[in-house]
Amino acid sequence: MEFRHKDLLGIADLEPEEIRLILDTAASFKEISVRPIKKVPTLRGKMMMTVFYEPSTRTRTSFEIAAKRLSADTQSLTVAASSVTKGETLADTAHNLEAMKPDVLVIRHPASGAPHFLAQRLKCGVINAGDGLHEHPTQALLDLLTVQEAKGRLDGLKIAIIGDIAHSRVARSNIYGFTKMGSQVTVAGPATLLPPYLETLGATVTTSLLEAVTGADVIIMLRLQLERMGQGFISTLREYRDYFGLAPRHLHLAKDDVIIMHPGPLNRGVEISPEVADGPNSLILEQVTNGVAVRMAVLYFLIGGEKG
Ligand code: CP
Repeated sequence: MEFRHKDLLGIADLEPEEIRLILDTAASFKEISVRPIKKVPTLRGKMMMTVFYEPSTRTRTSFEIAAKRLSADTQSLTVAASSVTKGETLADTAHNLEAMKPDVLVIRHPASGAPHFLAQRLKCGVINAGDGLHEHPTQALLDLLTVQEAKGRLDGLKIAIIGDIAHSRVARSNIYGFTKMGSQVTVAGPATLLPPYLETLGATVTTSLLEAVTGADVIIMLRLQLERMGQGFISTLREYRDYFGLAPRHLHLAKDDVIIMHPGPLNRGVEISPEVADGPNSLILEQVTNGVAVRMAVLYFLIGGEKG
């Protein structure tokens, strides 16, 4: 099996065998991060640039750590302090950055399709670190790795994804990812936050959190994107928490060994109670750890010497 892509733009573009290859490679990279010297020379002489038009804690930091663990050089453009504020276009910004000869550009952008736009125009690789409401492929890959480690498999599982589905690129990438690997995905949220096309992606759709978590092997809670809630998507935060917030009382409906995940950042006490977020079923911080390994694997396949 070879990984022949120039870019990583979405899970929709990957074959199950390619997802498996990335996950297996990420699993083998994990031990590098617990060595006394957390570095191997695999990507020495390569350069990764990050360009984030939206805030990030986990994704940007873990891409930078991943590159450094593989001995690649890193450079981050701080968009708020860049010439973007003077009106420089996305294409001009990217062409100017590419003129400095990076091997791969990691971009987060509020416009769906921005990484695809760049991938068509740049010779260097492009990695989508989250585009608008579209995809966040490395988040789905780290979620898949976390489930694979916890359950020993990725097929035949019931995956519940709950919350603000409409604004979640994580939900879309995870629906593609878990469905491709042979699991069944149920999404739940208020009707106002459930876009109409979800069933065409292979997901089961419900407005009942209780229905979604019943018998679930994995529950993925999503951040309520509070910055958008002035637009009438929910009535009150309290009502949202009462109907769609995950609390300890819900866990007995799921499988005994259910795992709880969340991409972060958390709205504690809104979509997830602190007791659940910090409880024994939670793998939220393991997801973050796996984010480094998955991004090491993605960088390895896109800009490493060997393919497959
Ligand atoms: N999960 C995620 O994308 O987190 P950040 O926004 O902090 O990168």
